[in-house]
Amino acid sequence: MSNALISNLSLLPPDALLGLMAAYKEDPRDTKVDLGVGIYKDDAGQTPVLKAVKAAEEMLLTTETSKAYEGPRGNQLFDNAVERQIFGDNSEARAQGRVVSLASPGGCGALSVAVGFVKRLSQQGVVWVSSPSWPNHAHVVRAMGMATDSYAYDEVSSGPHAGKVDFEGIKTTLAKAKAGDGIIIQGPCHNPTGIDLDNAQWEAIAHLCVEKSLFPIVDVAYHGFGNSLDEDMLGVRRFLSIVPEALVSYSCSKNFGLYRERTGCLVAQTQSTEHTKVTLSHLADIARASYSMPPSHGAAIVATILDTPALYAMWVEELDLMRGRITSLREAMALALRKHGKDVAADRIVRQKGMFSLMQFEEGAAQKLVAEHAIYLPNSGRINVAGLKLDTIEYVAKCMAPYLK
Ligand code: LMR
Repeated sequence: MSNALISNLSLLPPDALLGLMAAYKEDPRDTKVDLGVGIYKDDAGQTPVLKAVKAAEEMLLTTETSKAYEGPRGNQLFDNAVERQIFGDNSEARAQGRVVSLASPGGCGALSVAVGFVKRLSQQGVVWVSSPSWPNHAHVVRAMGMATDSYAYDEVSSGPHAGKVDFEGIKTTLAKAKAGDGIIIQGPCHNPTGIDLDNAQWEAIAHLCVEKSLFPIVDVAYHGFGNSLDEDMLGVRRFLSIVPEALVSYSCSKNFGLYRERTGCLVAQTQSTEHTKVTLSHLADIARASYSMPPSHGAAIVATILDTPALYAMWVEELDLMRGRITSLREAMALALRKHGKDVAADRIVRQKGMFSLMQFEEGAAQKLVAEHAIYLPNSGRINVAGLKLDTIEYVAKCMAPYLK
């Protein structure tokens, strides 16, 4: 046999969340509970296709006439509709031609291109990622050839600001950030903590980015899961009104339930129409060298929903239901945790937003919960609240209680 070059490589460990997904599937225990990967589930444990999505697909079946490439920006009705979701209906920046967007393969595709763009702005720079964050953030940054550093994203544990993000921690850790560095800031429903910046903190972080000349990438992956669509975006809108330049990666995986359709958008805000043109040319160039052209099916579905009043109303109702179910699960879990004397954990879980909660476990708790109770969660202690069911909450709370701080 000739020399195998692949023998220079060693087997990689599975991705923390994807590995957990595979292990859960194979677990034969019928008491198993999946609190791992962030997918919305109903009380039957299913992730059904939204009715608004099905209705849009039926319309597309008759109206779609071609599968030819749509070009680097993809479906521009989709791009415009996502811009309206982010900026609202009356955006000065959009009216002034300072905003442009490209459809992308999921939020992750948008993030990759965004990091590639920051690299073109500052070869020596690093991209700052919150600690903790979604593990794939740092992974994407490094895969795009940039270094990462982390800024503290901690919860204030007591006093009048208990449950809020400790902004002093953010400021202190960003003290050594240099002009031209990138920074990923999560929009509503921070993954994994479930604790969001309040509107004043959004303003403060915007001023910090301006003072330090940091280039922001705002990652919006859970729009509508924290509060109503408009409320969820207040902080991001305030932020974008202060910083002159920013990129926003927007994912439709969760709020439209389009996970496998890889539906996302990369939105750029610049200082002038000239900069918008330049930015678009670079973003399209980075995408061209990677996935070349964006996928279209999911984008067409979202554009149809957002531009058809009856479907839009149907979608908002379904999104409200998903958010309402998560809120009820948080309340039920808090009640169950209190029964087991875990008031602090109970207080935390009800005030957090979105799909996730970062449980404060003793070291090694997650592995024990998987091995002994078939309760699947990553080692970080993050749980997907939407993976709970009303009839398993008591079991989950009882199994978790001994490990909670
Ligand atoms: C998660 O955090 O579980 C989701 O964003 C899914 C993923 O790709 O990791």
